[in-house]
Amino acid sequence: MKPPPFAYHAPGRVGEALEVLAAQGDGAKVLAGGQSLLPMLNMRLAAPAHIVDINGVEGLGTIAVADGVVEVGATARQAEVAADGEVAAAVPLLREALGLIAHPAIRNRGTVVGSLVHADPAAELPGVLALLGGWVVARSATAQRAISAGELFAGPLTTTLRPDELAVAACFPVPGPGTGTAFVELARRRGDYALCGVGALVALDRSGRVTTARATYVGLAGTPQVVDLSEAVAGLPASGQGLDTQRARALAEASVSPQADIHASSSYRRHLAGVLTARALHAAASRAAASRAAASRASSPLANGAPSVPAPGELSPHRSPTPRSARPSGDQGLSVELVVNGVPRSAAVPPRRLLSDLLRHDLGLTGTHVGCEHGVCGCCTVLLDGRPVRSCLTLAATASGHTVTTVEGLAGEDGRLSAEQQAFIDCHGLQCGFCTPGFLMTVRAFLDACPQPTEDEAREAVAGNLCRCTGYHNIVRSVLRAAELRRMAPGGEPAPEP
Ligand SMILES: Cc1cc2nc3c(=O)[nH]c(=O)nc-3n(C[C@H](O)[C@H](O)[C@H](O)COP(=O)(O)OP(=O)(O)OC[C@H]3O[C@@H](n4cnc5c(N)ncnc54)[C@H](O)[C@@H]3O)c2cc1C
Ligand code: FES
Ligand code: FES
Repeated sequence: MKPPPFAYHAPGRVGEALEVLAAQGDGAKVLAGGQSLLPMLNMRLAAPAHIVDINGVEGLGTIAVADGVVEVGATARQAEVAADGEVAAAVPLLREALGLIAHPAIRNRGTVVGSLVHADPAAELPGVLALLGGWVVARSATAQRAISAGELFAGPLTTTLRPDELAVAACFPVPGPGTGTAFVELARRRGDYALCGVGALVALDRSGRVTTARATYVGLAGTPQVVDLSEAVAGLPASGQGLDTQRARALAEASVSPQADIHASSSYRRHLAGVLTARALHAAASRAAASRAAASRASSPLANGAPSVPAPGELSPHRSPTPRSARPSGDQGLSVELVVNGVPRSAAVPPRRLLSDLLRHDLGLTGTHVGCEHGVCGCCTVLLDGRPVRSCLTLAATASGHTVTTVEGLAGEDGRLSAEQQAFIDCHGLQCGFCTPGFLMTVRAFLDACPQPTEDEAREAVAGNLCRCTGYHNIVRSVLRAAELRRMAPGGEPAPEP
């Protein structure tokens, strides 16, 4: 469960990245957030000879709303895009779909462009790009081209991007006034890939009747499918009793050809497609009506939705700092320098060293535990620049120049336990102890962003960390208790026993 050896490239400019891609062709893989590539490397499903880490490339982290398009650069994180208010106002569907991807620790690293290029059939963002008629901007050493969603997705995990091309940005057109969108899905657990996901777009005329309706389906076939549902709902009123979606549901069920797998049969997925089409159309139609009303009041033409707020613990809308790349260090590989728990640390490591292994084996910080090594269990969660990330899905080289907080950094300098640690003891949240460091790091970041959580919020906050003994009850109590302790003693230290 470790990546195979590879040569590591950390270009600082797009041109340098393109030179490596041109020289190495099929032998090179671009590393963006690593939230899909690292699991594949760890499980030896991919073994590229060269990794081109674009995290330090200048100018790729931008997010811009201009000329009716939201343009997202190649290293803009999913969490950054979800937290951007301008993006949410312009393309609310993007924020809504982003909120359904995995958990904050994944979205804090994963990029929007990486998700599109990875082209997982169950991923939400390819469906969003297809529904809105968006495109990806690809550059090679010799040319630049825009690849429309219709041309981009060629099959499961396959796109028409050429090996020498870097996807530098993704562009999502802003829907016009009187248009509403919605994304709904069903997954077995919160944050899992969807068994079926449906995005819908509904446009209304001035009298509030539907002119156009279409839906996108993910999780059913190898690529996202867009179905025009206009004939089933055109002319119907969007408000009043609510949109009549009977015919649209039947049309959707007849139009999709779902594949069966170990998670669901084809007929169940077809049923889901129908049910979720109705739900997505209802939501999209009522948002379109709200947008139409807002437009006729001559207020913002972009107010066509009510997207959820980003989950606590995710990035705030500032841009990530440009990291200092790891430097070559003779035969031993790379010299990695980072600040761990407030202390500058360095190590010479091979390029394939994971951050989790750097912490445990090179720096002797064995409090960070390792379970699945493909991002699912959350045992290895640490804070990278204050945000929770999976250290098993982050290369040590990528973390160079950044700050890392591990469970060893939670207690005060005098050794007094942090509020989170104390609460887990008080409420018997420790249980097995193996998964506890990951829970504690997740909870620390969550409470920093959401100091007074409800029980539901606390439950959702720990949903991305697996408790194999299923004892979430005490863990949720511990989260609420930690919040209480933090409130009792400003500064995060638990109040003394009465
Ligand atoms: C536990 C877990 C749960 C997840 N759940 C979901 C989910 O529910 N829904 C969902 O949509 N996703 C999910 N993901 C995937 C996540 O969204 C990934 O972040 C995303 O698919 C890939 O983005 P990345 O930036 O991490 O790309 P990487 O992992 O860095 O790269 C993915 C692929 O794209 C290529 N690539 C990346 N960027 C570029 C570029 N700019 N130009 C050319 N090639 C490029 C890489 O070479 C690689 O082949 C999950 C991941 C994990 C670990
Ligand atoms: S998520 Fe990293 S070890 Fe399981
Ligand atoms: S507390 Fe660790 S598996 Fe349940």
